[in-house]
Formats: sequence, structure tokens, C-alpha cells
Amino acid sequence: MFGPVLLAASRSDRMRRAVAAAPVTRPVVERFVAGDALHPALDTVRALTASGLNVTLDHLGEDVTDRATAKATRDAYLRLLEALADDGLGARAEVSVKLSAFGQALPDGGHDIALANVAEVAELASAIGTTVTLDMEDHTTVDSTLGVLAELRKEHPQTGAVLQSYLFRTEDDARALAVAGSRVRLVKGAYNEPARVAFQNKRDVDKAYVRALRTLFAGDGYPMVGSHDPRLIAIAQELAARHHRAAGSYEFQMLYGIRTAEQRRLADEGERMRIYVPYGADWYGYFMRRLAERPANLAFFLRSFVPA
Ligand code: FDA
Repeated sequence: MFGPVLLAASRSDRMRRAVAAAPVTRPVVERFVAGDALHPALDTVRALTASGLNVTLDHLGEDVTDRATAKATRDAYLRLLEALADDGLGARAEVSVKLSAFGQALPDGGHDIALANVAEVAELASAIGTTVTLDMEDHTTVDSTLGVLAELRKEHPQTGAVLQSYLFRTEDDARALAVAGSRVRLVKGAYNEPARVAFQNKRDVDKAYVRALRTLFAGDGYPMVGSHDPRLIAIAQELAARHHRAAGSYEFQMLYGIRTAEQRRLADEGERMRIYVPYGADWYGYFMRRLAERPANLAFFLRSFVPA
């Protein structure tokens, strides 16, 4: 019931200012975000990778409306990649990007601006031996994001993308991307989507997830199972066994701070487990989507306003 309200609030500047100004917000945000800046985030990455986990880093930011900020996003990722290379973390750490932070929504030529900015990031990622995954945002951006993916894959075939099982189109997209060399993270989807493009009910979203998982595991690509849902994780493991996929020919991914015991359990079983680690000052949209996913998170957040 609160989900759609929180998702609408995630795009409101007034709410952004109110939530950011509340003094109790920070400890709750820290559960999901690994610090305001690169260096605290790198401490987290070192700890996770030292314990046998892999990471994908997200420099937080989205919905950029001017070219200078889009360039600043590119520069932040270039600094991040340089720091990963300096620390020798390229083998276990990759990066995730939101194209809206690279200028995708700019009115004049946003698609090309985002492509030019992200291509520089993909170039450096390849040079240091790591990869880029394109996060997926709301449904209006999917064609452009998959177009950018196709362009990047010409030079950097290991570039990954995200598909969201709540979208009706995803079955077709999964089929098109289940090809050799392709890396696809399958998630349920975190945005507020209309009924004309997306399943509205959890059961339908979960069923669609299983259909897309089947396609990805049967294909020749590299499936990345982005979910905390125990049922879907078990189904992915069954599919891996059915298709004789060795550990390392697919992976599991979960968000920083969510179901950490399960992250550990899968890694200890020998599965490749990657943690999505967001960092940076622009945490508001990401944080609100995490609250929207789970009513208990909202209750936890609201309880923190009540003096002990
Ligand atoms: P579901 O929501 O059913 O959760 C299953 C269980 O996981 C819950 O019962 C609970 O125990 C736990 N859980 C899930 N979310 C939680 C939360 N916020 N707080 C606490 N516990 C929680 N979406 C998108 O639209 N575009 C994208 O690019 C990405 N990228 C992405 C990367 C990775 C690595 C992951 C794991 C997820 C995303 N997502 C995403 C988010 C995704 O679409 C989805 O909203 C969340 O993963 C929640 O869905 P689950 O599959 O975990 O199932």
C-alpha cells in the first residue's frame, strides 16, 4: 500500500529536502549505503572482497538534467575505476551505472550524450580488466539503454545490462540477450510502472521472473540472478544444475545490507556472489526505493523519529 506512495516520493524534490534534513535519517541510510564518498566505500569493498565476495559499485545519482553534472558522473566513475586499479581490486569489483546520471534524459541528444560519457567508463573498465553493468531505470528508458548496450558491446562485449521481470517486454528482451558473451542481471523491478507495460501483482512478477530465468540459463550468456527471494534463488540453482552450468558460469547478486547471512551462505556453498554497493551523497532515490520494497524498512525508518 505504501510502495507506490514512496516511489512517487522518490522523485519529489520537496520530499528529498525534508528526508535529507531529518537528523535521524543518516543511521537508517547507512544500512543500505556504504558512505557518502569513495574512500569509505572502498573500505567496504576491501572487507567484502577479502571475505570472498565480489562487488559491483554504484556511484549514486540519477535523473541528471544538465551536461556538466552528466560529465561529473563520468568523472566520478573514472576516479572510482582508477582507485580499484590502484588497489588491485579489478578482478573482484565491477561498476554499475545509471544512464540517467550520464545525461540520458537531456532534451537535446540525451541518448548520444549518455553513450559518449559511458563509453569512456567502459573503455577504462576494460583497460583495468573489469566490467560495466547498465542498471535499468523506468520503462521509458529501456529502448535507449538497450541501444547503448548494443553500441558498447561492439567494443566491450562483456558490458552487462539489467532486465526487469515486471515489464511485459522482458521475455522478448531476455531471449534476445541470451547469447554468447552477454551478461544479464535479472531483477523484479523497482519503479512505479503503469499496468499497460508491467505486471502489477507480485505473483505475476515472480512467474515472469522464472520464465526469464529459464531463458537466460538455457542460453549461452552469463546470467546474473539479482534477487533476495529464497524461492527464486533455489530455482536458479536447479536451473544451473539442469543446464550443467559450473559455478562461475552464472552468479548471484544482492544489495548491500540486505540478507547478508544469505549472501554468506551462497558464497560458502561455492556460488559466485556479488554485492551491489552504492555510495555517494545522492542517496535519496535509491534509499526511497529500498523503503518501498519492504514495509518493515519504512516502519524501522519511522520508528527512528520517536525518541527512545
Ligand atoms: P522481494 O522484494 O520479493 O524480496 C524477497 C526478500 O528479500 C524479502 O522478503 C526480504 O526478506 C528481502 N528484501 C527484499 N528487498 C528488501 C529491502 N529493500 N529491505 C530489506 N529486505 C529486503 N531494480 C531495477 O529496477 N533496476 C535495477 O537496475 C536494479 N538493480 C538491482 C541490482 C541488484 C544486485 C539487486 C539485488 C536488485 C536490483 N534492483 C534493481 C532491485 C530489484 O528490482 C528489486 O526491487 C529488489 O531486489 C527486491 O526484489 P527481490 O527480488 O529481492 O524480491
